[in-house]
Amino acid sequence: MKTSLIDTLAREFEISPSRMRSIQRAVTAEIDAGLAGRKSSLAMLPSFCDAASGREKGFYLALDLGGTNFRVMLVKLSGAGTVPTVVAEAKYRLTPGQITGPGDALFDAIAAYVRKFLKDHAFTRPYALGYTFSFPVKLLGIDEGILIKWTKDFSASGVVGRKIVTLQRQALKRKGVGNVDIVALANDTVGTLQARAATDPYCGLGVILGTGFNIAVRVASKRITKGVGGYAGTGMIINMEAGGFSKSLPSTRHDRRLDRESGNSGQQLAEKMISGKYLPQLARLLILDLIKKDHLFAGQVPAVFADTARFAGEHMAILQAGSSEAAQALARELFGRNLTPSERRLLARVCQLVSRRSARIAAALIAGSLKRVERRSKQRVTVAVDGSLFAKYPGYSRLLATAIQELDGPASKGVRLQLTQDGSGIGAAVIAAVVASE
Ligand code: GLC
Repeated sequence: MKTSLIDTLAREFEISPSRMRSIQRAVTAEIDAGLAGRKSSLAMLPSFCDAASGREKGFYLALDLGGTNFRVMLVKLSGAGTVPTVVAEAKYRLTPGQITGPGDALFDAIAAYVRKFLKDHAFTRPYALGYTFSFPVKLLGIDEGILIKWTKDFSASGVVGRKIVTLQRQALKRKGVGNVDIVALANDTVGTLQARAATDPYCGLGVILGTGFNIAVRVASKRITKGVGGYAGTGMIINMEAGGFSKSLPSTRHDRRLDRESGNSGQQLAEKMISGKYLPQLARLLILDLIKKDHLFAGQVPAVFADTARFAGEHMAILQAGSSEAAQALARELFGRNLTPSERRLLARVCQLVSRRSARIAAALIAGSLKRVERRSKQRVTVAVDGSLFAKYPGYSRLLATAIQELDGPASKGVRLQLTQDGSGIGAAVIAAVVASE
């Protein structure tokens, strides 16, 4: 009985090679539709910049906003394909009130932190700044864009539909910051691609597998037929907003419930199956199912599963792959007692099913995107990846690489997945430098 329910869940959550191929094909078709301005679940948002050449030089400021941690950095670029260096960095935590309250308060808080950063380090020279803003933004050019919608946990009012850089510049002015010029606005996936491109000319994709999920792809400009003003480069990086992809996804009753109960039902469907924000929520729903059918916790729901937000990715990692001592210590903390061997096995299995499915769907999206990369070499292409899921979740990066090989066979030989940490911060500085060197 117990095995049969978990076997049913395992069947529901397995992504077969043919399912991966159908997702891969759908991704490529949606990329083409999005670049042509036809209806597509991929927004395919132009970044108005091409990959860095590695020759960029100078000191640039970077702002990185994409989660509750907000960063300010000063980055030095020395050209000749050398690794950018972080001269100074500060991380600040935004309060729930700032990310869900009035927009002006959010931009004021960011401006105040910039002022503090400059003051703490006595940075008084004029600086060009690159701004990584990791939400769906329709760029009007390299240094201005309109927020299409908030994703993740953000909901600050009066920002959707408005010009982000203008709002931030006004806030900097209100806070008396006079030596900073915002010259570029970018998504974190674009920043990740750029951070890698500064040292690797073969970089063609930037991927975030963290709280959120998204991909940026470098395409030939001639493929973008929806119009990008007077942009003259031969290639352009495109923020796909891949979390919004919705075709051919194997949605289960648990996915449908998660979506219904989310604040943005019907949206970000791929992200809800892949990213670190949602995996614990999905695991929780599977666990609730097992509890209801009396396979776990003697039919009683532990308090940690009563609300949607307490069970976390770090817990999943320990339950799935931690030592027995670590898992039991966590169990005492979460459930107030040790787990029986069968409970431990079931919980580990649930976490494994949910994370494995995430990696296989992400692999299909990456493989579909690789088909449209404007490559600098037939033999090699680098995929720059950042985010806690890829960097830290047990077995995740290996599952991802294996699934890409499964899809693309020998052609995947030249595909290198490269962890590119801090891509969103350093990448913003790189983009500012690309703009400055034009
Ligand atoms: C969400 C955002 C997207 C961002 C991703 C990763 O999907 O909509 O812009 O790139 O999270 O942070």
